[in-house]
Formats: sequence, structure tokens, C-alpha cells
Amino acid sequence: MNQPIYLALDFPTWAVTENFLMINQLQGVPVKVGMELFYHEGPSIIEKLKENNHPIFLDLKLHDIPTTVKRAMQNIASLEVDLVNVHALGGSKMIEYAKEGLLSTNGSKQTKLIAVTILTSMEQTMMNHDLNIEGNVLEQTGRLAYLSKQHGADGVVCSAHESTSIKEKCGQDFLTVTPGIRLENSSKDDQKRVATPKFAREQKADYLVIGRSITRAKNPKAAYQQALRELKTK
Ligand code: C5P
Repeated sequence: MNQPIYLALDFPTWAVTENFLMINQLQGVPVKVGMELFYHEGPSIIEKLKENNHPIFLDLKLHDIPTTVKRAMQNIASLEVDLVNVHALGGSKMIEYAKEGLLSTNGSKQTKLIAVTILTSMEQTMMNHDLNIEGNVLEQTGRLAYLSKQHGADGVVCSAHESTSIKEKCGQDFLTVTPGIRLENSSKDDQKRVATPKFAREQKADYLVIGRSITRAKNPKAAYQQALRELKTK
């Protein structure tokens, strides 16, 4: 793929999404479909996006007992998206079963399994107190990335701040997908571990996820172009 930015389609319906993509001339760009849109539209949203040639990251963040996740992944595999994810905190067996579920269909496209480490909306205090996970975010994302890799994941979701260190631990081919991206002068919203596109590229992120910096901009088309420019800035 030439374009490493997945645009987060955090919209309520296909009608709103289609209109947004059309008026901003973003047809065909890589997109991320999350729970909001998928739970409203169901799997048909994937077919609609494919008709318009969008590469797709299906961000459903599965986290359940291993057998349930495996069976859900068997269904997801038939959608033939590029990337799908689970929470690494679901543990080693759940990650293994997720991969088995994805591998169990004979489709032409092999969907990559990505594990969410620590959400980019969390910082260390929240991780220590709410999740009762000791240590700092860098250690924990590294540990969860290594666990994910050992059990069949192709990469992780992490913040740009952890990407380089994860690749040192897990290998340069292990994918890092980084949300929490903010264009220069954009609001952080509810995200904590944010970074600019340029910083993410410098930290060797394979794919960036960008939502509100583009979708809530006064001129989303211009914001998308700005993201591409910032990504290329030396
Ligand atoms: O609007 P913003 O750029 O913050 O959107 C980030 C998107 O990435 C949201 O759709 C969110 O669900 C998703 N995401 C995230 N952190 C993760 C995994 C996914 O922010 N760890």
C-alpha cells in the first residue's frame, strides 16, 4: 500500500460516511471501521467500502474467551479486510485462537492480526490504578507486543512513542499501527499518548490511524492533505 494513513470512519451511519467521503474526495483512501459504524451497519459496510476500493482496517478490538474469539474470527475472515484486531490483554491463548480463526478460511486475502497493547487514551496513572498493571507504559506495551508476537499476531496497536522500542524487541517486520495522531495545532480530545504524523514516521510506525484531526476539521480534505504533507516532512 502506498498510503499508510487509515482514516478512522467514526460516523454513525453509512449515509453520513458516504457523504463525508464524497464531498471531501476521499474515495478509495485506506479507512478504519470501528464499533460505532460496524454495529449500526453490520458486515455490509465492508462490501460497500470495498466497492469503492478502500483498503480496510476492521477495528473491533475483540476480547472474550478464546473459543468465542476464534469463532468470531472465522466469520471476520470471510470479509477479507486487511487488518483486524483483538486486545492483547485477552491473553496468549485468545491471541492464538484468534489467529487460528483467521487462518481457517480459504479466502484470497490473508487478514493480518493486530493486538491492541495499552489504549492510547490511557496514561501511566490510569494503567497503574484502574487496570492494576504495574510499571510504565513503555515496558507494558513492549511486554504485550512480545506476548502477541509469540502467539501469532502480525503486529500491534500502540502509540508512536512505543513503536521503535517494540520493533527492537519484536523485529522490524512486526507491524506497528499508531492511533493518537494529531496534526500540528489540533486538539488532543480524549487521547493522552499523542504524536504528530512526522514523529510517527520517525518512530517507524507502519500505519497511522487518524480520526478527529481530519474528520472534525473545518476542511477535512485540506486536513487530509496536511497529514500527508506532515508525514513526508523531513
Ligand atoms: O479521533 P482519533 O484520531 O483520536 O481516533 C482514533 C481512532 O483510533 C478511534 O477510532 C479509536 O477507536 C481508535 N483507536 C485508538 N486507540 C487504540 C486503538 C484504536 O484510538 N489503541
